[in-house]
Amino acid sequence: MRVCMGWFAVLVALMAPLSGGKTTAVAKSMEKIPFGKTPDGGSADLYVLKNQGGVEVSITNFGGIVVAIKAPDRQGKPGDVVLGYDSLDGYANRSGYFGAVIGRYGNRIAHAKFSLDGVTYTLAQNNGENSLHGGTQGFNKVLWEARDISTKDEPALELKYTSKDGEEGYPGNLSVTVTYTLTNHNELKIDYTATTDKKTVVNLTNHSYFNLAGPGGDILKHVLMLNADEFTPVDAGLIPTGELREVQGTPFDFRQPTAIGARIAQDDEQLKLGKGYDHNFVLRSRKPGSLVLAARVVEPTTGRALEVWTTEPGVQFYSGNFLDGTIRGKGGQVYQRRSGFCLETQHFPDSPNHANFPTTVLKPGERYHTTTIYKFSAK
Ligand code: GLA
Repeated sequence: MRVCMGWFAVLVALMAPLSGGKTTAVAKSMEKIPFGKTPDGGSADLYVLKNQGGVEVSITNFGGIVVAIKAPDRQGKPGDVVLGYDSLDGYANRSGYFGAVIGRYGNRIAHAKFSLDGVTYTLAQNNGENSLHGGTQGFNKVLWEARDISTKDEPALELKYTSKDGEEGYPGNLSVTVTYTLTNHNELKIDYTATTDKKTVVNLTNHSYFNLAGPGGDILKHVLMLNADEFTPVDAGLIPTGELREVQGTPFDFRQPTAIGARIAQDDEQLKLGKGYDHNFVLRSRKPGSLVLAARVVEPTTGRALEVWTTEPGVQFYSGNFLDGTIRGKGGQVYQRRSGFCLETQHFPDSPNHANFPTTVLKPGERYHTTTIYKFSAK
């Protein structure tokens, strides 16, 4: 059943002046559609946000997952530019983290252990001996409480989740709010906030896989600019060694727009360890808390472009190296190696074990707040 509240609200708002202007209903465009049952019997919904620029974003409150982003190409033709599944079942039972909110800690924590004030916390080893993306049941696999907080100009969805003290091994009850706003400038704006009642670590991100050409081919011809002079090299387990290395003279230099595939097969130790790009880039210095342009990606055949703005100090550029053709996604599409890329804005992986990285510690009384914007255009 489709609940068409959006258009009803538009109608009510349009009629308001005729009926004496007493109605305060606002014109907004968000539909809520049932999206199925979660493995533990909860009901998930799909929220469809539409703006005036022809962009449509579908988000489920299961995992806070961005299920679809339809953005116009240079001819104005809309196309879905993210990978994912047709139904909840795929998101609940298969891997890949497609479109999901990642938490409590985005990316890896070495040996699945970290210490705070002399206490060692042990996490799930779900990636070799390391912990990846929040553990066995990260924020991508839980049901969030959803609320339509649209204004008269912009549809917006608020998602809330409380991660219990000790959940997945992390200390402190963590109250998390993720807000998705679709602006009329064709931006998907994501605000992440969190508070805790015990000292803990937090690193939240979104794991959308983009293919601006629409699903099907690989992403190697997408032209990428990354606003980073340094990246954090990794070891064989994809854990940062702690070094900040200059990108200058390496295949990691994307300061000038370069096709993703141009150097991906080079004989480079870091590319071999990552099986391609799977590295954290250190964004150029900026005022803490202010938005910086992290990346710009252009897809030459459709003219679609994506800009990523963030308040975070890093971005994980992942070229979809682990996609291996075993996943059948939306519309039965088989996701081959490098058929999507991720730009996961974040604090650096394994920060709790690296004193020289910006801190991911959150204390009681503090408020974690980061913002990331994915902006779509075409020319
Ligand atoms: C992140 C990691 C990758 C991979 C993907 C999920 O981007 O850095 O190594 O684990 O998530 O497949």
